[in-house]
Amino acid sequence: MKKEVKVVVTGAAGQIGYSLIPRLVDGNIFGDRVVNLSLVEIPQVVSKLEGLAMELDDSNFPNLGSINYTDKFADASKDADWFLLVGSIPRGIVYNGKKIEERSDLLQINGGIFVNQGKAIAKHGDENAKVLVVGNPANTNALIGKSAGNIPSQTWMAMTMLDSNRAKSMLAKKISRNISEIKKMIIWGNHSPTMYPDFENAMINNESVANLINDNDWITSEFIPNVQQRGKAVIDARGASSATSAAKAALDTVLACENVTPSGDCFSAAVYSDGAYDVPEGIMCGFPLMTTPDGEIEIIRDLTLSDNARSRLNISVNELLTEKEAVKDLL
Ligand code: NAD
Ligand code: LMR
Repeated sequence: MKKEVKVVVTGAAGQIGYSLIPRLVDGNIFGDRVVNLSLVEIPQVVSKLEGLAMELDDSNFPNLGSINYTDKFADASKDADWFLLVGSIPRGIVYNGKKIEERSDLLQINGGIFVNQGKAIAKHGDENAKVLVVGNPANTNALIGKSAGNIPSQTWMAMTMLDSNRAKSMLAKKISRNISEIKKMIIWGNHSPTMYPDFENAMINNESVANLINDNDWITSEFIPNVQQRGKAVIDARGASSATSAAKAALDTVLACENVTPSGDCFSAAVYSDGAYDVPEGIMCGFPLMTTPDGEIEIIRDLTLSDNARSRLNISVNELLTEKEAVKDLL
């Protein structure tokens, strides 16, 4: 394993960035490795990163290496091991006189960002770089970025860990168990209101969470819709999209990719479909994933989907196909 790791974060002066970046260098994610940060912002904002760099220095993180900040993504990308692509516009704000209500409304606004970033990552990033797209609509932005470069040894993901964390939190409260006991909390499909939080494959001590809950009404009328709509609920309550929980989920994803997945567990992110679980090839779909001892990120392929789960997954897959069609000029 390398002694140093280089991490690029876009949108570094934004809400998520402020919560995410210090925790990349506090020793909990990359252990003893020195973390070199490359922070990217748009030209109008990039100078603010000087303040963040000062704060990082003042925090005395023992593993903090270099801090560079720039508005030139290609320069930032050179030999980077990790790309956390947060930079983009959130929903809930007014853009060009119109309030952005759904994540998919961001397709045309944010999608273009990922073409050039995808090309730069392919050209300048480490050949085994891992890329996590956080900016919405995350799945289709990741598809755009991956398609722009397409180096098979680089791994592109879109974040669904926040949805998985939300689902675990709701389930743990319902059955009065600790969150850490819940394993295999899979989010299938799109990071959107069609996502499917899979309560049937989720386990506590080899017992299905579905059996432990045994309350189908709560599952269908509260659990599933509340996970699907939690992002909107946070925006309504906070007046801004989730930030500290999104940062934590990005860190959880990096941690899951940097460590071998324990047997009996998996983690959630959307990756490029190769036809697993009969999901059509060529979309970024939420799957159950594992990190192998070689550091590869693989889809876990031996889980069973009930008819109900399958039909919910199909709805989300159809939405992803529609989003793909809408951005075909960028692919
Ligand atoms: P924010 O507005 O606070 O910050 C976004 C930052 O990105 C801004 O500072 C902006 O200047 C910067 N930016 C815009 N375009 C850029 C570009 N081309 N290159 C570099 N930087 C750029 O927003 P936020 O709350 O940090 O959210 C960021 C994104 O994350 C939004 O799209 C939001 O919807 C998404 N999000 C996703 C999840 C998820 O679970 N996948 C969760 C929460 C938020
Ligand atoms: C979330 O799920 O909190 C984010 O995707 C922000 C949003 O727009 O919902």
